[in-house]
Amino acid sequence: MSKIRLPVTRYYGSKRKLVERIWNEIERKELIFDSVLDIFGGTGLFSYYAKCKSKQVIYNDIFRFNSIIGKKLIQQSSNELTLERARNMLLPIEGVIYRNVITENFTGIYFTDEENHQIDIFIQNINFLENENLQASAYYILFQSCIIKRPYNLFHRNNLNMRLNYKKGNFGNKKTWERSFSELFERFINELDEFCFDNGEENISLNSSALQCNAQANLLYIDPPYFTSGSNTTYHSKYHFLEGLAHYDEIQKNIDHNKKNKEITINKSLEFESKTTFLNDLQQLLLNHTDSHIVISYRNNGVPSIEDMAELLRSINNNFEVSVIDLGNYGYALNRNNINNNEVLIIAKNILL
Ligand SMILES: C[S@@+](CC[C@H](N)C(=O)[O-])C[C@H]1O[C@@H](n2cnc3c(N)ncnc32)[C@H](O)[C@@H]1O
Repeated sequence: MSKIRLPVTRYYGSKRKLVERIWNEIERKELIFDSVLDIFGGTGLFSYYAKCKSKQVIYNDIFRFNSIIGKKLIQQSSNELTLERARNMLLPIEGVIYRNVITENFTGIYFTDEENHQIDIFIQNINFLENENLQASAYYILFQSCIIKRPYNLFHRNNLNMRLNYKKGNFGNKKTWERSFSELFERFINELDEFCFDNGEENISLNSSALQCNAQANLLYIDPPYFTSGSNTTYHSKYHFLEGLAHYDEIQKNIDHNKKNKEITINKSLEFESKTTFLNDLQQLLLNHTDSHIVISYRNNGVPSIEDMAELLRSINNNFEVSVIDLGNYGYALNRNNINNNEVLIIAKNILL
């Protein structure tokens, strides 16, 4: 069978390079399932792979911006937004009075003044699009363009200066950072045209915290935030700006002005984001899904340890056949400092399924 092509994503912890290996291991264990719940969905690549494999897919992520990406790639089956229409959305519509939330609050932080102005206009123009398909496409190309224009592809630092003053060195892609939204839109509209498809199933994208998500599927894929023993930056801190854009009308009253990067606090949560409570959160999650096969992605030098997690799975359900598979050393695009850091898969095959 020909290789499955996947959208290129620049997301922290994306399983793009690993998803084929993960799927092969699931097949090797002869798990029987026709539905998948990807409860920490992120870029949606595991979901997308499962969609290509003709499964019924439920995508979920705590962040609305991610769930819109999931809506586009997983729930919807086509892209109706043309490049011309997307580019026109960067311009104000005559007679409309626009708010300037990004321009007024984020000068010199993430994007240039001109870019901030374009973001303000584009986001508000999404309200004038006539259906959900067009709206999700518009958000998708904006989020992807914002990510690709950022040093490190993240929003936890107010480092626009780094981008603007960057001369040369090993790191960074100054050329991409300086590409205009209009230019980048072409790439992401093409991406949507290539990757949106119908697999004949009712797939959905949810926006809930993992512990609040009450969807069920034969196979639960758990790819949670991952901790080392040192300090960790939460997903919220890394991507708060995009979560703000997905809640444009609420940004103004949710800016933390004490932080240099003007963090937008919407959907900030410690669930699965605190080392001290992670194992309890995981136990709770597993107890909610004892009728499924469970597949967990984690790393061998993380906290809690792989053995702690495997032990927890064994203790939750006698019908789980638990195995731990070392997938080797996979450097993440955004984290090159991981020499002794192997990717591990824990599979709990539910023998009643
Ligand atoms: C390791 S990433 C998942 C990456 C994904 N598998 C991919 O290939 O892109 C973890 C994801 O969990 C989400 N997340 C963090 N805390 C969460 C929670 N309590 N409930 C649901 N999702 C959460 C983050 O937004 C992030 O997208």
